Amino acid sequence: MKIAVHGASGRMGRAVIRLAAAEGARVVGAVVSPRSQELGRDAGEVAGAGVAGVEVTADTSASLLGADVVIDFSTASALPHLLQLAARAKVAVVSGTTRLDATCERLLDQAAKVVPVLWAPNTSVGVQVLAELVSLAAQKLGLSFDVEIVEAHHRAKVDAPSGTAERLRRAVDEARQGLRPVYGREGDVGPRRDDEIAVLAVRGGDVIGDHTVHFLGQGERLELTHRATNRDLFARGALRAARFVQGRPPGRYTMVDVIRG
Ligand SMILES: NC(=O)c1ccc[n+]([C@@H]2O[C@H](COP(=O)([O-])OP(=O)(O)OC[C@H]3O[C@@H](n4cnc5c(N)ncnc54)[C@H](OP(=O)(O)O)[C@@H]3O)[C@@H](O)[C@H]2O)c1
Repeated sequence: MKIAVHGASGRMGRAVIRLAAAEGARVVGAVVSPRSQELGRDAGEVAGAGVAGVEVTADTSASLLGADVVIDFSTASALPHLLQLAARAKVAVVSGTTRLDATCERLLDQAAKVVPVLWAPNTSVGVQVLAELVSLAAQKLGLSFDVEIVEAHHRAKVDAPSGTAERLRRAVDEARQGLRPVYGREGDVGPRRDDEIAVLAVRGGDVIGDHTVHFLGQGERLELTHRATNRDLFARGALRAARFVQGRPPGRYTMVDVIRG
């Protein structure tokens, strides 16, 4: 499998490049922003994986040449351009970039008419299972339990709450529709309302990603937690997703499809 990596100099992009060979993939393209300090360098060296013979570039079209799949971990503002070019070049897309807006969502659908597209705010297998457990718990525990979500990430993360926290909120919503998200509390907020679900972000240090969904009842509480202890987990998941979408018909796919094979 030949892959291009979009966001090649980032924490995730470097992990994908470093792990590609072990997961049976060859990196043929590496893209960064036009203002990147890594332009012109060897992608393998940027990733700390030795010489790969692939130059880091800001030319997305050129980087897609010969690729079967492009793996994207960049920014929401960079994704639309990639989706247009990948559809044009008929290159499948796996994207883990979070905090997408409505335009990105529309372009994911549009690209999926031409190529396979898998977008996942979290590419770990454990988080997919957590989402299923959260949905089940919300359904079984019912309306008498309040649900709140707390996530923690490293101090360099630029968006909040995490895409995974939002994914978990949607998992609760599948079982208990009509909950109103609250993204913080301060001052005279009054007693908690029945229809609230708070999604709260902790930032600091080098935390890779922790998510806890609290089910708070009278006299008891249930806490479901996932902790990522190594960023490689997300990169391996993205490479597995790339293998899954390679050669599939155009359409939208999710990590649930990958896990079910
Ligand atoms: N799905 C998951 O499991 C998962 C896991 C972790 C993170 N994420 C998400 O993945 C994204 C990236 O995370 P990260 O921690 O790797 O971030 P990061 O370290 O800040 O890396 C961002 C990358 O995007 C590149 N970039 C920025 N603008 C670009 C453009 N216009 N064209 C091409 N590349 C561009 C940057 O390149 P230069 O700055 O060098 O130009 C850099 O390589 C975030 O949205 C994060 O929330 C998802």
